[in-house]
Amino acid sequence: MSIKIHEYDAVIVGAGLAGLAAAKELTEAGKRTAVITKLHPLRSHSGAAQGGINAALGKDDSTELHEFDTVKGSDYLADQDCVELMCSKAPETIRWAERMGAVFSRDEEGDIAIRPFGGQSQPRACYAKDRTGLTLLQTIYEQAFRAGIEVFDEWYAGDLIYEDGKVSGVVAYNIRNSEMAIFNAKVTMFATGGHGRAYRFNSNAHANTGDSLSIVARHGLPLEDMEFVQFHPSGLGGSGVLISEAARGEGGRLFNSEGERFMTKYAPNAMELASRDVVSRAIMEEVRQGRGVGKDGQSVNIDLTHLDPEIILTRLPELRELAIAFQGQDMLKEPIHISATAHYSMGGIPTNINCQVQKDEKGNLVEGFYAAGECSCVSVHGANRLGANSVLEAMLFGRHAGENMVKALNDGIELRPAKESDADTFIEEFNRIKTSNGKESVSALREELQIGMTADAGVFRSKESLERQLKLIDELLIRFKDIRIDDKSATFNTDLQEALELGHMLEFSKFIVDGALNREESRGGHYREDFPTRDDERFLKHTYAFMDKDYNIETKWGEVVLGKFEPMERKY
Ligand code: FUM
Repeated sequence: MSIKIHEYDAVIVGAGLAGLAAAKELTEAGKRTAVITKLHPLRSHSGAAQGGINAALGKDDSTELHEFDTVKGSDYLADQDCVELMCSKAPETIRWAERMGAVFSRDEEGDIAIRPFGGQSQPRACYAKDRTGLTLLQTIYEQAFRAGIEVFDEWYAGDLIYEDGKVSGVVAYNIRNSEMAIFNAKVTMFATGGHGRAYRFNSNAHANTGDSLSIVARHGLPLEDMEFVQFHPSGLGGSGVLISEAARGEGGRLFNSEGERFMTKYAPNAMELASRDVVSRAIMEEVRQGRGVGKDGQSVNIDLTHLDPEIILTRLPELRELAIAFQGQDMLKEPIHISATAHYSMGGIPTNINCQVQKDEKGNLVEGFYAAGECSCVSVHGANRLGANSVLEAMLFGRHAGENMVKALNDGIELRPAKESDADTFIEEFNRIKTSNGKESVSALREELQIGMTADAGVFRSKESLERQLKLIDELLIRFKDIRIDDKSATFNTDLQEALELGHMLEFSKFIVDGALNREESRGGHYREDFPTRDDERFLKHTYAFMDKDYNIETKWGEVVLGKFEPMERKY
């Protein structure tokens, strides 16, 4: 079978905010750019971001305060040079989005409206009602399309072409008809988003299966800080669907089954607007103590009934509709049930400040390879991300990656011509999975993984729970070799795609659990019941983990870039 080899200056995998921002820069600079995405760009998970995008625009706010809040929120694990870049360029990023046509909500003076979010000392989340991500995604898609990007949607990227320290594109197949192709490029970028689907209870789209993480890891490249998973305090009880932090930003209050406004015990100053890790732990602790609400007692109440209904109707209309649709609860009239939900991954593919992928903990780089957005770890979030910093990160670092790729191309980075044999590994995986006739069901294995991740590698973790989950993953990896795929067709074979995705989920989940086991401290979103305090002496370090062919993981440690904010105890 001969394989088509497409040649481009740049290939980007992922068409959310980060991927499209990069593609727009490249295309406007005259670089031939292909965007490969397993969904249509407008279905990317960036569109699900509800509450806002941070920028220090308020009269009492400053870039430095934004930086401080971000570093404090990160439990001092964020790299401060990258945080400085992000916060200082945030206001300009908002103006860029606005000039492209993004319609932000306005305050009474006609300025871009800002709302308070958790862990922030000033209101700084700019928003478009509660559809901020969707507004930005539509805007940037429109503009990238106008610039002339070429989109290969419903194409699944299955492997990276990596040899002698250089990446020269990807191998992908067309989900519509299983056509295989090589996308050979001078520069390649991963912007594939998050991997929250590894958890049973999560706020992520079905597509968020973290494929790119294990694709990278299979080539012996590291993943950074994978143990840091963010649990958002407010997922709808039972489903995990996001109820934006904007609900608390606009004044929502949390109550347990005894009618107690319990945040008084956990964060007496910031209350419901403490950082996400703090509020999520407080919610889960109330549930553990038997003070939960709902059928199974696994939720708490968020109450917005004291607010002027106009606030809900004009600033939170989608949240209201979601709670009605999923739970039959109208926030205008009654409290709604929420619980902590796996939401965001602070860790990912390590990059330097210019979004170039690192090949080790010392900062050596892979040639021609970039990453941005949630799949990457430039480390602006450290151990815990502040709400509304991810949309900012995706837009800003996506654009920054695009500018840096343009520079690399202008500096003369060359195309290393791909060979048909570069697709061999992925074709072997594709055929092996498609022809699997074993006994195990993909959906059953996935469910076991997800249940275990939520129970044993979730908000609360311990040596015992993590070892149990590690053992489960090792067993699932073996059982995965014995799966059965009933659909043998070439057209929209979702059985096959879900099996490929499960393979990735099992592998990157092992990084999460292994990292959590090694990190014998509590920091940000990673809370060890057996090591409940932060230990800067041993663990003010980034995790760099490498996987071998038998899924053994080796951990190395990398330096955190410190700066003007000295680590101190974090209180809200
Ligand atoms: O709560 C939210 O609106 C989510 C925002 C974010 O994760 O940044």
